[in-house]
Amino acid sequence: MSKAGGQLDLSTLPANRVLDILYNRLSGRHQSRRLLLDELSQAAGLSREQCSEVLDELQRRGHVLQQSPMHGVELCPPVRLDPYLIEQGLGTQRIGRSVICFDEVNSTNDIAMSSARQGDTDGLVVTAEKQQAGRGRHGRSWLSPAGSGLLFSVLLLDKPGVLKHEAMTIAAGLAVAEGIEQVCGLSCNLKWPNDVYYQQSKLSGILVETRQLGNQQATVVGVGINVTASPPPGQTSRPATHISLHASDVERNQLLRGVLQRLDFWLYKVMAGQYELLHDTWLPRCGMIHERVRIRCGDRCCEGRVLDVSPLEGLILACDSGQHMQLPAIRSSVLD
Ligand code: BTN
Repeated sequence: MSKAGGQLDLSTLPANRVLDILYNRLSGRHQSRRLLLDELSQAAGLSREQCSEVLDELQRRGHVLQQSPMHGVELCPPVRLDPYLIEQGLGTQRIGRSVICFDEVNSTNDIAMSSARQGDTDGLVVTAEKQQAGRGRHGRSWLSPAGSGLLFSVLLLDKPGVLKHEAMTIAAGLAVAEGIEQVCGLSCNLKWPNDVYYQQSKLSGILVETRQLGNQQATVVGVGINVTASPPPGQTSRPATHISLHASDVERNQLLRGVLQRLDFWLYKVMAGQYELLHDTWLPRCGMIHERVRIRCGDRCCEGRVLDVSPLEGLILACDSGQHMQLPAIRSSVLD
C-alpha cells in the first residue's frame, strides 16, 4: 500500500520530485524517456547518492525502473497507480483530498466504506491493482487481471438525503464517459443506469453503495474501467472491450485524474440539485430512448418502451400494458 496523504507540499519530497521528472518524460514531449543519473540528480536537486536512494524508494513503492550506467534511468509503463501522481494538479474541490493505492484488496468499495468511520475521510479515493472479490451490480462479480484496469472507489460523507442514490448513479456514469473521452479521445455512450459503452461493448461498470452511519450517509462510488484487458466472450453477460484496443498510450494515473475531475464537477451539480442539467447532458449519450427493453425490478419483470431517464426517479418506461413505470436503478436491471 502507498499513500501520499498529509498537508505538506508533496512535490517537495525527493522521491516525488524524481518521480515527477521521470513521469513527465513519458508524455511524448521529450525525445527520450531516459535520463542519465547525473542529469536526473541535477534536475531533482539531489546528489547522485541521494538520487540512487530515491530510485530504490520508488521501486519499493512499486514503480518499475530500467537503469543502466550507460543509458541512464527510465520509468517503465504501465506506470503503477500512485497517490502523488493522482493528486498532482487534480484541482478538485472534494474528491481526491486523500488517495490510497493498494496492490491487492478484496474490493475497493469495501475499503472505502470501512474508512467512513475513520476521521476526516470525505473525498477519499481508494485504488487497487487487483481485487480478489470485485463486486458488480446485483451480486455479479467484476473481473480484471492485475494492473490491467482502473479499479477505484470514492467515499463521500454527507447528511442523509443530500446525495440521492439515483442521481449519483447517473452522475458517475457521465463522469466516467466524459473522463474517458477527454483523456483517451473515445466517444462513449451510456446504458442506463450506469454502464459505459464504447460502440457496442462495455468498457466500464459502476457500483454506487450507500450506508447510514449515525447522522451521516456514506456513499461509495466504485468504478471499474477496462484499460488493457477485458473479460473474454462468455465470461460476462454483455460483450466487453478495453480502451487500449481503440486508443494508444493510455496512462492510468492520467485517466483517473480525468475521471475524478468530472466526478467532482457532477458531484457539485448533484449537491446543488441541478438535476435538469444532469438529465440533459446524460440523455444524448444514451441510445435507449424509444427502445424496447425488458427490465427486472425486484421480483417483477416489465417490458416496454423507454420514455426517459430521470436522475431522481430512474428509468421511465411505457409498459406494454399501457402503464407508465418509474424504475429506480438500485432495484432494477436491464435484461438482454
Ligand atoms: C457493474 O458493472 O456491475 C459494476 C462494476 C463495478 C466494479 C467496480 S471495480 C472498483 C469497485 N470495487 C468493487 O468491488 N466494485 C467496483
